[in-house]
Amino acid sequence: MSDLYAVIGNPVAHSKSPLIHAGFARQSGQDIRYEAIFAPLDGFVETAGAFRQRGGKGANITVPFKLEAHALSSRLTERAKAAGAVNTLVFEAGDILGDNTDGAGLVRDITVNLGHALDDRRVLLMGAGGAARGVIRPLLEHEPAALVIANRTRQKADDLQQLFASLGNVVSAAYGDLRGQEFDLVINATSASLHGDLPPLPKGIFASASLAYDMMYGKGLTPFLQFAQQQGAARLADGIGMLVEQAAESFFLWRGIRPETGPVIEMLRSSPGSL
Ligand code: ATR
Repeated sequence: MSDLYAVIGNPVAHSKSPLIHAGFARQSGQDIRYEAIFAPLDGFVETAGAFRQRGGKGANITVPFKLEAHALSSRLTERAKAAGAVNTLVFEAGDILGDNTDGAGLVRDITVNLGHALDDRRVLLMGAGGAARGVIRPLLEHEPAALVIANRTRQKADDLQQLFASLGNVVSAAYGDLRGQEFDLVINATSASLHGDLPPLPKGIFASASLAYDMMYGKGLTPFLQFAQQQGAARLADGIGMLVEQAAESFFLWRGIRPETGPVIEMLRSSPGSL
């Protein structure tokens, strides 16, 4: 019988994870089954428990259950502790291991797939919710000259700054404070793109050779990527690469094999209607 995995979320029907993991399994000859499981908003723990009962070996956890998955874990990786959220569970004999592969996925997409260095660079991270928090530690591991966290609600950026200050040069800011500053990498970790909005960024923040990265993806450019293009960012990237890389990191955790992500990113981009 195939080993059983799943993504658990609400909603979950739109999830690309089954497609991605099926691609990894085909490519690496691994015999797995991967399902998409819808959990009621008040029923995450029961749903995860029932899946484990059925023989589930591991799960990806998506919106809005990453905090509950963190609480459910009996052991946490260091990066899951720093993220304060869990996107990958491993069901072991006596334990539930919680990990967070989102930040590693982002950093790998930026540094390996896009070939954009982070060390000694000035990085701007927009947003201070769960998505932003999850990527701070992995970004700091690459020792940027500065990591500036900007958020509409300033206090939340200040809180994150304090939480991560010991790990590198982290600065918090309001959007207005960014006037006159330039960045080599600007990451949109807000949910603004979901609503067709653009965070209130001043003009002139993109250094030459800069990369604009939106963790969201969809058809066409997000408002942030359109702005970045108009403002002369050298390169634009959406979150597809991050999505596939975080999945690859989960697959590695479960199966001990690092799949090739390039063909799967290609497949997602080229299959009509898949985004
Ligand atoms: P997630 O877990 O996806 O990060 P979240 O915790 O709701 O979701 O956080 C959403 C983030 O997007 C927040 O940083 C939010 O800013 P506030 O803290 O000020 O609410 C940010 N955000 C959402 N819409 C935005 C917009 N139109 N402009 C700027 N920031 C926005």
